[in-house]
Amino acid sequence: MNRHWVKTKDGSPSLYVPELQQHYHSLHGALQESRHVFIAAGLLTLAQQESLSILEIGFGTGLNALLSHFEKGNPEQHICYHSLEKYPLQKSEWESLEWPELFTESPQYRDFYLSLHQAEWNKDCALDPYFKLCKMEEDLKQFEPKKDFYDLIYFDAFSPEAQADLWTVEVFEKMQTALKSGGKLLTYCVKGSVRRAMKAANLEVEKIPGPPGKREMARAKKQ
Ligand SMILES: C[S@@+](CC[C@H](N)C(=O)[O-])C[C@H]1O[C@@H](n2cnc3c(N)ncnc32)[C@H](O)[C@@H]1O
Repeated sequence: MNRHWVKTKDGSPSLYVPELQQHYHSLHGALQESRHVFIAAGLLTLAQQESLSILEIGFGTGLNALLSHFEKGNPEQHICYHSLEKYPLQKSEWESLEWPELFTESPQYRDFYLSLHQAEWNKDCALDPYFKLCKMEEDLKQFEPKKDFYDLIYFDAFSPEAQADLWTVEVFEKMQTALKSGGKLLTYCVKGSVRRAMKAANLEVEKIPGPPGKREMARAKKQ
């Protein structure tokens, strides 16, 4: 997949894929989007739990995993992080990435970022006593998730305009099966057809305030 780095409005980088005309993050700010959609609206709502399992759709740059480790509400919370990716970044791509705001002041962010990318694919890797990672090189459409396993799903696929086949009732039924009862799915996308597909998959959907530059985002819950 051909892609190149771009700078977003909050100064943090993202990637652009010309053939899909898609960015990996919001151009209003990659870092602030990730913090808002996945960390604040998801992870921090479960800060009281001793342990958590998270499924991410689209590992990409690893930004969501990085923030989940460092910016969780309780530093002693154990996280089991599974992330699906069909088109992993090349070594040269993730090596050339700089998150100035994160890396300059906190070298531990850079070290952990490198560990995330160096971790073997399709294998459980304990990167830290509090963070277990399994990156799965797999297509979401073929993925058969564990049942009732995840507290949170970070649904961070490319937009439905570019990948309509990933935002279907069938895919959200899989996500519903994968979630524990009371588990939540977060996504930046709030499109009507997407919310209808989630509802048809038996998820309760709410629209909540979105990150800067986007009025709303969606949070879905398994009853
Ligand atoms: C919007 S980007 C977000 C990436 C990542 N969460 C980040 O913050 O960098 C979408 C990601 O989904 C991945 N992807 C696209 N199609 C996929 C598929 N069918 N199955 C799994 N992952 C896919 C892309 O390669 C890309 O990494």
